[in-house]
Amino acid sequence: MPASAKKNEDHYRLLFNSLNDAVFVNYITRDNTFSNFIEVNEVACNALAYSRDELFKRNLYMSLPRRDLNLIGSVIVELNQTGQAVFESFLLNRHRKPIPVEISAHRFIFNGKEAILSIARDITERKNTEDKLRASETRLRDLASRLQIIREEERTMIAREIHDELGQALSVLKIRVSLLAKKLKAKDKEISSQLDNLCGMIDQTVESVQKISSKLRPGLLDELGLTAALQWQAQEFEKETGIQCRYSLPQNDLSLDKDQITAIFRIFQEALTNVARHANAQKVSVYMKTENNYLSLEVTDNGNGITQQQIDNPKSLGLLGMRERAMILGGELSIYGVRGEGTNVKLLIPYQ
Ligand SMILES: Nc1ncnc2c1ncn2[C@@H]1O[C@H](COP(=O)(O)OP(=O)(O)O)[C@@H](O)[C@H]1O
Ligand SMILES: [Mg+2]
Repeated sequence: MPASAKKNEDHYRLLFNSLNDAVFVNYITRDNTFSNFIEVNEVACNALAYSRDELFKRNLYMSLPRRDLNLIGSVIVELNQTGQAVFESFLLNRHRKPIPVEISAHRFIFNGKEAILSIARDITERKNTEDKLRASETRLRDLASRLQIIREEERTMIAREIHDELGQALSVLKIRVSLLAKKLKAKDKEISSQLDNLCGMIDQTVESVQKISSKLRPGLLDELGLTAALQWQAQEFEKETGIQCRYSLPQNDLSLDKDQITAIFRIFQEALTNVARHANAQKVSVYMKTENNYLSLEVTDNGNGITQQQIDNPKSLGLLGMRERAMILGGELSIYGVRGEGTNVKLLIPYQ
């Protein structure tokens, strides 16, 4: 070897060995397969626990887990098309211990022949972090789901208590006052008219008790199911806000469990509340249907239209709550607004 070529090679070897990632070079054969390794750096030897000479008798096929072998085929296709490819897999060391890696492969000419330079980065730490993050996300989601359920159980309990206890007490009160009023009627005009007043107030209180209890959790939801409760809520909404509310709901009974029914109903309530509070709309339409193993519920208003900024704002807790509930149901919630034309909120969940 001439002196200058020797110097070049030393240079290149230094570079090769000072990389922190494992580097492998192999030829690409005429029938489009990877040859044995023809060059490796020290990191590669250390990582796989083989000497250089041992690695020269090995190739990529021996170094990947069997389930990833078909990956090489598509990597070769990509290398032929674009000259490079990046993929994730595992390198098996001498003791068959898998090391998670991201391999970045490039085609180049080596000794006048088609060759592949593969740089394998150990991503153990990244994988661990990803796993931890995923586990913690799952835990958070479980917690959120648990909290929603507890909250709902509490509301149900309070609603029942208010309805039953307070309702009962008021009925007794009403009867007693009425009796008293009857007895006094002949004797004292003044007192008896005050008692009539009292009766009226008791009636009003009974009504508010019912209202409060059904705001907490409408009895309809548990007794007649989702469709009836949505219909009731839509009518209440129209009465309270004066915003016209049209709805189209499935005729047949839906097979949904209690938690699903609650979540869908709460999403619906939040969507309507938002229309009342923010949209400045004249009309809102509600459309629920089941189709192709999905249940969809859409609430569309003709108001000022939510902006992308409002949608993306992490402080939008109402929207976040709707999304979270949708996710717990294994579905998704999309929100879409057009300035001056209105807003569409669509819930999509799997339904068999
Ligand atoms: N139907 C709608 N039309 C127009 N703007 C809306 C609509 N729904 C939500 N928004 C906007 O998105 C923001 C976030 O909604 P949300 O998370 O429910 O919070 P908020 O507690 O204000 O109701 C609202 O403050 C409002 O500006
Ligand atoms: Mg809201």
